[in-house]
Amino acid sequence: MTEQKPVLRLEGIVKTFPGVRALDGVDFDVRPGEVHALMGENGAGKSTLMKVLAGMHQPNEGRILIDDKPVVMTNPIAAKENGVILIHQELSLAEEMTVAENVFLGELPRKRFGLVDWKTLDDRVGTILKQLNCDFGPRTRIGSLSIAKKQMCEIARALTHSAKVVVFDEPTASLTDSEKVVLFDIIKDLQKDGVGIIYISHRMEETFKITDRISVLRDGAYRGTLNTAETTEDEVTHLMIGRTLDTSNGTNVSNRGEVKLSVRNLSCGNLFHDISFDVHAGEIVGFYGLVGAGRTEIAETLFGLRRHSHGQIMLDGKEVTINSPVEAIANGISLVPESRKEQGLVLGMNCRDNMTLPQISDLTQGPFVSGGAEVDIYKDYQKRLEIKAPSWRSIVGNLSGGNQQKIVIGKWLSMKPKVLIVDEPTRGIDVGSKSEIHNLLRELAGQGYAIIVISSEMPEVLRVSDRIVAMYSGRIMRTFSAAEVTEDSLIHAISGLGGTDAAA
Ligand SMILES: Nc1ncnc2c1ncn2[C@@H]1O[C@H](COP(=O)(O)OP(=O)(O)OP(=O)(O)O)[C@@H](O)[C@H]1O
Ligand SMILES: [Mg+2]
Repeated sequence: MTEQKPVLRLEGIVKTFPGVRALDGVDFDVRPGEVHALMGENGAGKSTLMKVLAGMHQPNEGRILIDDKPVVMTNPIAAKENGVILIHQELSLAEEMTVAENVFLGELPRKRFGLVDWKTLDDRVGTILKQLNCDFGPRTRIGSLSIAKKQMCEIARALTHSAKVVVFDEPTASLTDSEKVVLFDIIKDLQKDGVGIIYISHRMEETFKITDRISVLRDGAYRGTLNTAETTEDEVTHLMIGRTLDTSNGTNVSNRGEVKLSVRNLSCGNLFHDISFDVHAGEIVGFYGLVGAGRTEIAETLFGLRRHSHGQIMLDGKEVTINSPVEAIANGISLVPESRKEQGLVLGMNCRDNMTLPQISDLTQGPFVSGGAEVDIYKDYQKRLEIKAPSWRSIVGNLSGGNQQKIVIGKWLSMKPKVLIVDEPTRGIDVGSKSEIHNLLRELAGQGYAIIVISSEMPEVLRVSDRIVAMYSGRIMRTFSAAEVTEDSLIHAISGLGGTDAAA
């Protein structure tokens, strides 16, 4: 391949926030028609670099060149005019507006006398939505769309401008497999049109599949660029965290104790049917299946967020009624939810208070309000989860995406529940911390917790589970022990082939 001249170059970008040097002289470039991955641990500076590029932050030092000409991105509109479009990690659409209004935000087509030309608007947006295979129209309200569809709107926004560079910041974190296929097709089309793509993801597999080059940041510093075809996951990981990881499936010799949680014939409308399983003290049961298999709904039922129509839930051999999260927590069941940002954090509050929020009543019993105890709890989990924050006083909304997630995980772990349910525990979390979280889950099992891990990532369930429950379309198809499970048999079970255990 002849080396093309880059369409975009970033030179020596420095960006500081109070107490943080987020970017320390970063160089980065993108060629037309290439997909260039930007990788690094949570808090390494990826999103910040992209926000500098897109005019949302002003750099303290450094320059941005488009087609070899220095440009200043004074604001996001200026960036757009220079052909740079950022599709955010945190989506930035106006919920109350329609799809069409969002796509053309701030630049609606006008007729004479300044009236908005709705017909033209609908036609243009309609065409783009069709191009993207969207099943909703220009007049749909943003607030009524799923995350994946909102993301399609962001992409539609990118397509209305003749973009030179499109940045995707963790686009697949909440997409289903089929939605991912659509996204990767869109990326290919953009590539064909000569657009330079910057792609941020913590998922090695897809990064290796769709990118041409991989650049790595560590602690705000540029660590190097590798050709994807000539490197390995180990090499990239080493650049990212300065060591290689042991990701072998640990021999999960658990000290299985008595049954903690017992679920019998649980059903809920058409979401799941006749679910029975046990979780012993000291073991991790992994729930694996496709998105929509009913795993999250079972977790929500156990946590009192949904009512079941049939069946029983038993804790320590006694039947319990759980009608609300408060009752679930009182019974010793904790759920680390899938959508942590919405359900788990107060973005304007500091790290310590976010982490210790559910236990404030415990800690403040007696004559003293023990803020010190809360700081100790925070510091303990900050160390164990390697949370990157300048201090416990830092506002959670200013942490990087992955570090926000770690705060929520710490919050539920620190409550020391009897039964801990974690739904997609490492979504959006970098490889190093991912293995820390896996180790931590194993450690907690070793201490006698009964743990349920729901995951869509096969390596993750294989790595942490003592037993794996395979689900398809609201039913348990098979339960595997760690010793007997193979990737093939697991895939077979979750695709609904071969029937259930009972039928076999
Ligand atoms: N507005 C802000 N105010 C203060 N600090 C900030 C702000 N934005 C980012 N930071 C800090 O800059 C550093 C880099 O954050 P950034 O969001 O760029 O990380 P990231 O590489 O995108 O991580 P992740 O993989 O978790 O999304 C972090 O230490 C973060 O706390
Ligand atoms: Mg980020």
